[in-house]
Amino acid sequence: MFRGDGRAVVPISASMAADDDKRLAAEAAMAEVVDGMLVGLGTGSTAAHAIRALARRAGDGLRIDCVATSETSAALARGLGLSVRDFAAVASVDLTIDGADEIDGGCRAIKGAGGAMLREKCVAAASRRMVVIADGSKWVDRLGGAPVPVEVLPFAHSFVARVLEQRAMPVLRMVDKAPYLTDQRNVVLDCRFAGLDPAADATWLQSIPGVLGHGLFLSEVAAAYVAEHGNVTRLER
Ligand code: 5RP
Repeated sequence: MFRGDGRAVVPISASMAADDDKRLAAEAAMAEVVDGMLVGLGTGSTAAHAIRALARRAGDGLRIDCVATSETSAALARGLGLSVRDFAAVASVDLTIDGADEIDGGCRAIKGAGGAMLREKCVAAASRRMVVIADGSKWVDRLGGAPVPVEVLPFAHSFVARVLEQRAMPVLRMVDKAPYLTDQRNVVLDCRFAGLDPAADATWLQSIPGVLGHGLFLSEVAAAYVAEHGNVTRLER
């Protein structure tokens, strides 16, 4: 592609721009991190930017401990020199920084495209404060465009899928022609709801035996940093 003056212009792809926005959102959330904190590390490409930003801050002298919401995030953080504690021995977290698949203006979110929603929900619940970081494509007027991931005990997955069909179209998540397994070795049913009623559907999902967790985060997120075209907006609950 050439400009009017004949000089070549390299088009920036939408995904590169989105990744820059993810990084910007992650860096904006660093303002929340204070010396001495125990920080919950989210999962996904946006959370990975936050982990790298935290590692840079730690390199500059910030003293923090972390817990991770997935084996992948734990490995990334440890590889960058961050101290990652075993969440099994942790009762309370100061601040968790995590991504989302959708976030609305009231800081309600759908999470779990990365399959970590059960650990993410546990760490969020243990956290005094949880903030979401996201690029602008995740900011929606109404939740429900993205599927709601549901983590299911493999033993019960056919039964759970039949129950979920009452309100949604569940699809067993696959990878390399085999069922995708979470870090807990459970399966995931990605559910498209005909018309998602977040509060009612969250309560319903939780009531189904065999459902271990789901990606609706309706009360956990205190604030969100959403970056769009290089500008960061902070949403407050
Ligand atoms: C993982 C998640 C992620 O935070 C969510 O899927 C967003 O991922 P990304 O930042 O890669 O778009 O919930 O379970």
